[in-house]
Amino acid sequence: YLQHALSIVVVGASGDLAKKKTFPALLDLYRHDFLPKSVTICGYSRSKMSDEDLRTKIKPYLVKKDAAPDPVVEKFLGRVYYRSGGYGSVEAMSKMVADLEVWEGQTGDASLIVDPESKTVKHGHRAANRVYYFAIPPNVFLDTAASIKQVGLSATGFTRLVVEKPFGHDYDSALKLTDDLGAHFDESYVYRIDHYLGKEMTQNLLVLRFSNTMFEPIWNRDSVQSVTFTFKENFGTEGRGGYFDRYGIIRDVIQNHLMQVFTLIAMEQPIRVSGSGSADYVRDAKVAVLKAIEPVRAENVVLGQYLGSDDGTQPGYKDDAGVPDDSNTPTFATCVLFVKNRRWDGVPFIFKAGKALNETKAEVRVQFKDVPSGSFLFDDKPLPRNELVMKLKPEESIYFKTNVKAPGLANKPIQSELDLSYGERYPSLYNPDAYTRLVLEVLRGKQATFVRSDELLESWKIFTPVLNLIDAGEIPPLPYKFGTRGPEESDELIEKMGYTYNKNYDWEEAHKE
Ligand code: BG6
Repeated sequence: YLQHALSIVVVGASGDLAKKKTFPALLDLYRHDFLPKSVTICGYSRSKMSDEDLRTKIKPYLVKKDAAPDPVVEKFLGRVYYRSGGYGSVEAMSKMVADLEVWEGQTGDASLIVDPESKTVKHGHRAANRVYYFAIPPNVFLDTAASIKQVGLSATGFTRLVVEKPFGHDYDSALKLTDDLGAHFDESYVYRIDHYLGKEMTQNLLVLRFSNTMFEPIWNRDSVQSVTFTFKENFGTEGRGGYFDRYGIIRDVIQNHLMQVFTLIAMEQPIRVSGSGSADYVRDAKVAVLKAIEPVRAENVVLGQYLGSDDGTQPGYKDDAGVPDDSNTPTFATCVLFVKNRRWDGVPFIFKAGKALNETKAEVRVQFKDVPSGSFLFDDKPLPRNELVMKLKPEESIYFKTNVKAPGLANKPIQSELDLSYGERYPSLYNPDAYTRLVLEVLRGKQATFVRSDELLESWKIFTPVLNLIDAGEIPPLPYKFGTRGPEESDELIEKMGYTYNKNYDWEEAHKE
């Protein structure tokens, strides 16, 4: 694609997502020469603005506060344009496309001579690829897609659509959305972003599992006691209450982000992980494991909703503008899934996610079964269990909790860790944001890291029955205070699932020493 002209149209350019994520990711790619220097980035949305207005609006998100002037940012902004129009307006869209064609060098003196059969350029100039990045709410997805189909396709190169969640709010609405979008664009055009698939550690999971000999033999019900997926944030909804209240934590984080991480942990080995055909091999394997999951049962769910902090400094969920006083929306949830297949039968997969908790982190924790030995006792108890922990944020690390002899003259085992902390092991690592990685995958045409429609629907099937109960107010959320670990009932459910917590071990503490 670097040899061709490239236009990236950011639809919904004046929104939050575009400013905070899309434009910074594009700058990052531009800076590292992953975009052609002649790239055209065109914002499109309803608000009336000039090119310069958009540049001024996004600039604060591209430069650090008080940083020295950065010539790359200026050059990048020089590639940014803006056109306004209704999302479904064929007229406005075709006006913008006429401008794209000029910027791409397709019209005027540089006009292309294109072979209509193969869509390749016969003589003359470059082909042009187009990416439409939908940073817009779902109610305008379809009109936008329809107008692009009518007037926005590139005649000489690829056209790709990047779409962002929410992809529906339950199974039926997701089905309708995928069907309606499918009427305009088949799956090969569509890149559904789940930014958790762009995180370093998520991308590492397949490599870790399948490029080592040691994990696969123990990656099953014989050795694994439970797997826990944790997402915690130490801040609340902070003004996003209006959006959040219609979704809740299960739709916001569990059904999408944590389930994506889950599929990579629980799926069978894809036929191929890289090279031709691999995008579908990977996604076929993900769909297969999703199909083996029973819908979540109400008794395996604990919900919570945060109250203000004790000292009055932090607001409760209902203090957020846009949240109704009688809201039943969970800001915390623990739920347990079971995979009915030979590899995982009986192993609880525990999902725990919450806002306004005591810390910010996301991790996967594979806890192994008790070691079958009576010969060691640890403080008069059986040895602590092995755990493989993969931290996605705030810092990436993988560590394996292992029992070793306490160093020195003592002859008793202690729990320590085999530890790969990225910050220490790879100190000068270029660790791009998830969006940077994913936009690059779009340009490279690699669909493995995007959500296929059947994957999306299978995941909704698992959660829709329990979400219906929650929406009907049948599983009321338990109150918890801002800055705490969430409702105690969550710990009780996790304990009931057989997870044991070794209170003598603290990785953070161990790490500080
Ligand atoms: C978003 C959710 O998709 O992911 C937010 O809507 C959440 O509520 C965010 O805060 C978390 O992303 P990250 O990359 O900060 O873990």
